[in-house]
Amino acid sequence: MVGLGRVAVLGAGNIGGTLAQRLAEADLAEEVVLIDIIDGLPQGKALDIQESAPILGFSTRVRGSTSLDELEGTDLVVETAGLARKPGMSRSDLLEKNAGILATHAKAVRDHAPQAVVIVVTNPVDVMTYWFREVCGFPRNRVFGESGTLDTARFRTFVALELGVAPRDVTGFVLGTHGDTMVPVLSLTSVSGVPLTRLLPPERLHAIVERTKKGGGEIVDLLKSGSAYYAPSASQLELARAVALNEHRLLSAATILEGEFGERGLSIGVPAVIGRNGMEKVVEVPLDPAERSAFSASVAAVRADLEILAKLPKT
Ligand code: LAC
Repeated sequence: MVGLGRVAVLGAGNIGGTLAQRLAEADLAEEVVLIDIIDGLPQGKALDIQESAPILGFSTRVRGSTSLDELEGTDLVVETAGLARKPGMSRSDLLEKNAGILATHAKAVRDHAPQAVVIVVTNPVDVMTYWFREVCGFPRNRVFGESGTLDTARFRTFVALELGVAPRDVTGFVLGTHGDTMVPVLSLTSVSGVPLTRLLPPERLHAIVERTKKGGGEIVDLLKSGSAYYAPSASQLELARAVALNEHRLLSAATILEGEFGERGLSIGVPAVIGRNGMEKVVEVPLDPAERSAFSASVAAVRADLEILAKLPKT
């Protein structure tokens, strides 16, 4: 069968709800189950999406539930649950709260869906990906995070707007963490094969890199409350489709490293091949010295957060 049986989306907020819609409209699975603790929210959004099926023509069944038992037999889980930082909350407060939510979910996934592939979205995503995998104990290929896919989409968009070319013709990579130290990699970016560095002067390239790094914050500032969800859910769909259709896409994903790029014991954005088995392999692309040192700074930022997590109980 092409496609998946059941996909579960944990968290029915703006990202979870929009992702459920995108998944249904892409007709990648027999069933999408949207799960949230707020009774009525997942059921209402799911029914609303379901009622668009006669017009849009998809066959996917969409259901909402408050029960983690609905994870039973799931092939793919997308973890979007968790809090965003509120005024007065420190980064470690957020880490601690979201780690608690994800630990409950990771144990439920382990018990109900032991064969599932898991895509983690909850922030801080690099750290949460590592944590989810620690708690559920799956092989590393079956737990990876969406981060670089979103940051790369923003990077490609800004390049396309600057050059006046089709966004899909711009390819490239943003590596490292999903945060201030992310690494938009100019040496790996091209427009239909033409190196970006031949198309734009250094000062324009620098401006695009800086805008990309602040891409999430730019949306938060515009919206005033809440953060982005259209481009994030599109990025999650890109990863989910690669799994569902076993596409072996080479994408930037938060990946648990076991020696690649000289690192282990953390998850961070690197180029990875994504297919039905999840993260099938890491592709160790060469980086120039400046990019390599930016990547190392990104690794250090993730390790600082992991130290906070290491003090939390897993059970
Ligand atoms: C962003 C958040 C969702 O980058 O991480 O928009």
